[in-house]
Amino acid sequence: MIINQGYLINRKSNTRQLESYTMRLVNPKDINQVVNLQELVYNGLPNKEVLYKDTKQEMLEDLYNGAMIIGVYNSIDELISYRYISFPGNSNKNLGNDIYLMNRDLDKVVHLETTLVSPDYRGNKLQTLTLSKAIELIEPMDMKHIMCTVSPYNLFSLYNIMSAGLNIRALKRKYGEETGNGIWRFILHKDLSNDMKMINEFHLLKMDRIEEQKKLIENGYIGYNLVRESKMIHYSLAN
Ligand SMILES: CC(C)(COP(=O)(O)OP(=O)(O)OC[C@H]1O[C@@H](n2cnc3c(N)ncnc32)[C@H](O)[C@@H]1OP(=O)(O)O)[C@@H](O)C(=O)NCCC(=O)NCCS
Repeated sequence: MIINQGYLINRKSNTRQLESYTMRLVNPKDINQVVNLQELVYNGLPNKEVLYKDTKQEMLEDLYNGAMIIGVYNSIDELISYRYISFPGNSNKNLGNDIYLMNRDLDKVVHLETTLVSPDYRGNKLQTLTLSKAIELIEPMDMKHIMCTVSPYNLFSLYNIMSAGLNIRALKRKYGEETGNGIWRFILHKDLSNDMKMINEFHLLKMDRIEEQKKLIENGYIGYNLVRESKMIHYSLAN
């Protein structure tokens, strides 16, 4: 089923001519296309730490348990972008645990997992577009919390996700933290039923200043705005 369609610019074409795209849910039988796109994007990343790769097995298991992958296909039906969303329920992967959500709310958490866009199609706001489609898709499901992790070194992703209203609620090592390793991740959250109001007084910190941000967050501050040009994050207390 087609969930959206429109036009975009292919950077490789050099003509700035518009190309049509369609958006639809990825069928589990096409999971190899997802794995191949993830590999292509990962190989092109200057800092590999910004993308924690999902295995084919994990994605398939998740898809059979209700997760969805929204795929964006170009005019010749190649997968050029996707957004993977999952419903972690009571599993210990649930990011609600990292921000001390109440147990009864864990079932109401949606995870925005990996999102990526092929380098030839970046700049078309596909990350933002697939997020608004994801929010439309989950609307009838009575979910309350949208959560995700983003690397403090991933400017583009952090900017897009914070512009969509997700706030920074934690900063910690993830994906290997049990062995004392892991990679730095912001944990972001949006309460779908309650818009957060910030008080006026705020602090500004550069997005990659780990220790200073950790201290602010430990003192109850929430990161609510990122200025793309300066890479500075506004932190404030919520009302
Ligand atoms: C994060 C990501 C999905 C954003 O892609 P997108 O939706 O195409 O980004 P936008 O359309 O918002 O891009 C806005 C601007 O930033 C630029 N931009 C976006 N991603 C960029 C990147 N990784 N490197 C350099 N510039 C980038 C775009 O070219 C555009 O520039 P312009 O305003 O001059 O046209 C994409 O960069 C990506 O796939 N990154 C690698 C995977 C990743 O980090 N995923 C998130 C963690 S799971």
